[in-house]
Amino acid sequence: MFIAPHARPQAGLRPADSGIAPGDWDVLSRYWYPLVEADALGDKPVAARLLDVDLVVFRSAQGISVARDRCPHRHIRLSAGEVRDGEIVCPYHALAFDGSGQCTRIPALGRQARIPAAYRLDMFPVREKYGLIWTSLSGGADAQIPTFPDIPDDGTGICYIKTRDWPCSAARQIENFFDLAHLPVVHHATLGNDETMPVSPGRVIQHDDGIALHADYVERPFQGAPRACTYTYRVILPFTIDFTVLDETGHAMKLYDVVAPTSGHACRVFQFMKDTRDIDENHRQLIEGLDAVNIEDIEVLQHLALPDLPLNTHFEVHLPVDNVSYAYRERLVALGLGASEA
Ligand SMILES: [Fe+2]
Repeated sequence: MFIAPHARPQAGLRPADSGIAPGDWDVLSRYWYPLVEADALGDKPVAARLLDVDLVVFRSAQGISVARDRCPHRHIRLSAGEVRDGEIVCPYHALAFDGSGQCTRIPALGRQARIPAAYRLDMFPVREKYGLIWTSLSGGADAQIPTFPDIPDDGTGICYIKTRDWPCSAARQIENFFDLAHLPVVHHATLGNDETMPVSPGRVIQHDDGIALHADYVERPFQGAPRACTYTYRVILPFTIDFTVLDETGHAMKLYDVVAPTSGHACRVFQFMKDTRDIDENHRQLIEGLDAVNIEDIEVLQHLALPDLPLNTHFEVHLPVDNVSYAYRERLVALGLGASEA
């Protein structure tokens, strides 16, 4: 109920009750993640979460800003406030903060008040790319936003699948995305095929920034005609996949899966796609179909009995087709993940 008289505010950003181990948090906080679609950010502040840190995203007079979602005065969430004259205003005492996080106005002090420079918000760097607003909690210069060579940085020509919060860790979501053996089982109704169909392991290739998986899969969308496809998954560490589906007619679909780790056992999944066909009714159906696939995955993943991803082989049994998962986990270890206890 109280914070002790001798207690000092913690220096680091990681909440003390976070389920993400401190060492893992430090590693993951160096990367950039999307928080919200740029189109979804209107004139109201938007709440977001990253690695258990609550954030607010708003359009200030200086551009788009990302701040810690709390007023330094009495800890009300600023995402519950409003943006007025290019500044975010706390709904409790109407303290206003500009796009740099500096407090510019405290109505209770009157017009002549000199506001100390220390009255400011914790701010984070912001980038806009692929139609998404990105940030990095530690702003590490060594971490870049993933690069997708097949689409322009401003997102022109790409279509967005509905952003959803998934009830699993970002790493479990990534493993689900490249999991070949679940396709005819979980996605029997959408991608199709028979759950008794054997699934061959794909070929795993190591890259500097991650791994790639090349695999063959026969789709039967909505149990229609079989479609022999080549799947290429380019996994960009830690939580992004650049996915290509090539069918026998040469038709290619690109699907991008970009996962923000909101918490230890939850993530927000941003997906967008580009299709070589024209945007038409089929294309809309494709976007809806991809969302249906996501819903099928969410339905299963909510039943995870071991939400943490084992970074050794002892906790789960494995199939030959899990070779990609094995390679992915090894690369997560190489990033320094799993080195400390929660
Ligand atoms: Fe799936």
